Amino acid sequence: MDFYHIQSYSEYKEAYKASVKTPETFWESIAEENFSWKKKWNEILSWDFTKAEIRWFDGAKLNITENCIDRHLDTRGEKTALLFEPNSPSEAAQHISYNQLYEKVCRFANVLKQKGIEKGDRVCIYLPMIPELAVSVLACARIGAVHSVVFAGFSAQALSQRILDCDCKMVITSDGAFRGNKTIPLKNIVDNALEDCPDVTSVLVVRRTGEHIKMKEGRDEWLLPLLDSASISCIPEVMDAEDPLFILYTSGSTGKPKGMVHTTAGYMVYSAYTFKNVFQYQEEDIYWCTADIGWITGHSYIVYGPLANGATTVMFEGVPSYPDYGRFWEIVAKHKVTQFYTAPTAIRALAKEPLEFVKKHDLTSLKILGTVGEPINEEAWHWYNNNIGDGLCPIVDTWWQTETGGILISALPKITPAILPTFATLPLPGIQPVLVDDSSKEIKGNPAHGKLCIKFPWPGMARTIWGDHKRYKETYFSAYQNKYFTGDGALRNDDGYYRITGRVDDVIIVSGHNLGTAPIEDVINTHEAVAESAIVGFPHDVKGNALYGFVTLKHPEFSSEKISEEINQLISTSIGPIAKLDKIQFTEGLPKTRSGKIMRRILRKIASGETESLGDISTLLNPEVVQEIIQQRK
Ligand code: WTA
Repeated sequence: MDFYHIQSYSEYKEAYKASVKTPETFWESIAEENFSWKKKWNEILSWDFTKAEIRWFDGAKLNITENCIDRHLDTRGEKTALLFEPNSPSEAAQHISYNQLYEKVCRFANVLKQKGIEKGDRVCIYLPMIPELAVSVLACARIGAVHSVVFAGFSAQALSQRILDCDCKMVITSDGAFRGNKTIPLKNIVDNALEDCPDVTSVLVVRRTGEHIKMKEGRDEWLLPLLDSASISCIPEVMDAEDPLFILYTSGSTGKPKGMVHTTAGYMVYSAYTFKNVFQYQEEDIYWCTADIGWITGHSYIVYGPLANGATTVMFEGVPSYPDYGRFWEIVAKHKVTQFYTAPTAIRALAKEPLEFVKKHDLTSLKILGTVGEPINEEAWHWYNNNIGDGLCPIVDTWWQTETGGILISALPKITPAILPTFATLPLPGIQPVLVDDSSKEIKGNPAHGKLCIKFPWPGMARTIWGDHKRYKETYFSAYQNKYFTGDGALRNDDGYYRITGRVDDVIIVSGHNLGTAPIEDVINTHEAVAESAIVGFPHDVKGNALYGFVTLKHPEFSSEKISEEINQLISTSIGPIAKLDKIQFTEGLPKTRSGKIMRRILRKIASGETESLGDISTLLNPEVVQEIIQQRK
């Protein structure tokens, strides 16, 4: 039986049962019935979590762009594939049909080939949310090049670090980016980044803002003339199921960012399957995910998942506050959006603004609302439900990660019996979550609270960290035997519904962006006046969490506003403005255990104002600093 489209709760239960009892058969029928293959697999699944080795559909041959584009041409050639809404409302939206997308992707793919890009080569994409971003992603996939999209809000240093890590030969960028009433000089940032990347031999530049930029002879070229002279057909490269499709960097709690590697067949099947079910996509729907393609949400739920289902997917270049706080709702009304998928931080920011911005627009086209990226608080949930969904649109609170490739825990709209605010609810078919306690034991029965692990592979999971399989194994498969560890804590209520309670490691989610504390501390510690630092998160009503830095100076008497500004400037240059600290407190010392470990737990409580419940601090090496830190709290 093919469970590709689940339409009732009993079907969900049946599908779930089948997916646990006979996972291979379950995924085989989904893969077989709903995708096009050049050759079928020899083996559906082989796995060994102790070695962190997972293979799905091994031996199969395919190209994901044939599944996302070519196979729709007969039946949906004139249907809009990408609906592009520009930053400025006065610029016309673009409706790019499947036929047009095919031609654009083929031309772009031919340009890549002409520039010497071959199967397996890595191509870095650093673009704003313009159609060329989706097209370049697909063009890479068409010829088997591995795309590494870097979010265009990252700094030159962060970009060069990512280019070097996976050894990209080419960078695709634009002259600049429009963001509200600002423009961002992307090409300049690329130029700076490439000073450290001698192996990048080719830079393709999209003209977007029209600003003056430098073009380096022999390296940089405008894209448009190359596209114009390229052929409009490009035979798709035949890929193995387990060939890498893309690399996407995510922050770890320590060290440099992790280049998560997703492979072709499993990722395709999983992103398409989850898109279809979580958004209950139907042929006439207009689906909009507000994420940036620089994040996994954009990869799976703007590009691959929707296109594999022949959907119309909206791409928005701008920001929710430009030209005013009603922009999202104006776009929903203008394009009659049916599914709207965004982040809690955006909801919280918009909920602070007068309701007039919502009321002005007709939102009756909406059927389903979604959120992703961090736990959604009840207040934001109710605001979203009442004002955007008018109480009529189920909200899917989708929990997943860059590493998981697609949504793992989410309600299915109008199918899951009760959708509770703040609960991601039930695992999708194929997903076997477990909660473990501190002694690594699986907690059976409900209710329960523990660390969230997954005990069986699913097709969309990342296969490794680029260039560092050992780190992949240690980060995800070593904490608990034979389980994938998510880094999140969760509770499960009496009905078996999951509620994600947040990270249990040193990753802090700020405005939906994962930030590791250690890399930020490393940057702060490069400031010549700084002796030591510790970053913790504290609650923030729009960002969810904000960063609080406790900094000890080599000469405490010199603490000043100027040093605070310099620290934030350093962070901005090395990582990006998203990692800036909201508060910086200079301290005489940091609370430490006798073995010299910084007690972040205590700092976290102080930052959140929970100074009554610090627990026993008498065993610290330096309990006296705690009082001082509390008194000078910002
Ligand atoms: C958090 C984003 C609660 C979680 C797709 C996870 C969430 C991290 C939710 C991954 C949600 C994501 N409820 N927390 N619905 N969705 N998270 O890699 O802590 O950017 O581990 O992937 O975001 O973030 P990432």
